[in-house]
Amino acid sequence: MSTFDSKAAGWDDDAKRARAVAVARAIGEAVPLAGVTDLFEFGCGTGLLSLALDPRPPRALLTDTSAGMLEVVRGKLAAAGLTGWEASSLDLTAEEGPEARFDLVVSLLALHHVHDVPALLARFRRLLRPGGWVALSDLDDDEGQFHDAHTHRHHDGFDRADLAGWLADAGFRDVTFSTPHVVTKAVDGVTRDFPLFLVAAR
Ligand SMILES: C[S@@+](CC[C@H](N)C(=O)[O-])C[C@H]1O[C@@H](n2cnc3c(N)ncnc32)[C@H](O)[C@@H]1O
Repeated sequence: MSTFDSKAAGWDDDAKRARAVAVARAIGEAVPLAGVTDLFEFGCGTGLLSLALDPRPPRALLTDTSAGMLEVVRGKLAAAGLTGWEASSLDLTAEEGPEARFDLVVSLLALHHVHDVPALLARFRRLLRPGGWVALSDLDDDEGQFHDAHTHRHHDGFDRADLAGWLADAGFRDVTFSTPHVVTKAVDGVTRDFPLFLVAAR
């Protein structure tokens, strides 16, 4: 059972919707979404990011390891009548993933749960058609301040230069960064800003 299962039903709130919308908008500025037919999302949670893309691609595979999150997102897909969209249990850090190929791989705040990010980027590349894109968002290096001590993660945010290097090693080019959103929260009584990066590459 995933630790996210118990959080799934109450996951969506205004703050999480706002950050997903901001990142989706930045993806639309970095990637020609009109040309995207098949979308893949890693660590989709309740589907906030992919569902906020505008335009929405005709087909999507949203993946997560949490059964609770997948139940919520499947309910949303059915309610929206998105017949070309599917939500599937998949851990791309442990499995090769589907035979199908995609035009765009997106992710929001899931990379910090992954130990070997360079290996995952190589898997993303294998999922893509020639000329396909990745658009990935997570925290900039947060010096261990963003999550509490009990939250499972492998990274306290990321250094942008490290990510750019890992993307280049995985065969991506045209790497660009933006800062679509800043999360503000109190840490030990002090209000701090935690920027989210979006990195796009193809
Ligand atoms: C912080 S939540 C973010 C959820 C969603 N992307 C959002 O922004 O609202 C991280 C998500 O990544 C998922 N996750 C963590 N490790 C994963 C893995 N190896 N494969 C697929 N999903 C994973 C978790 O189950 C969880 O739903």
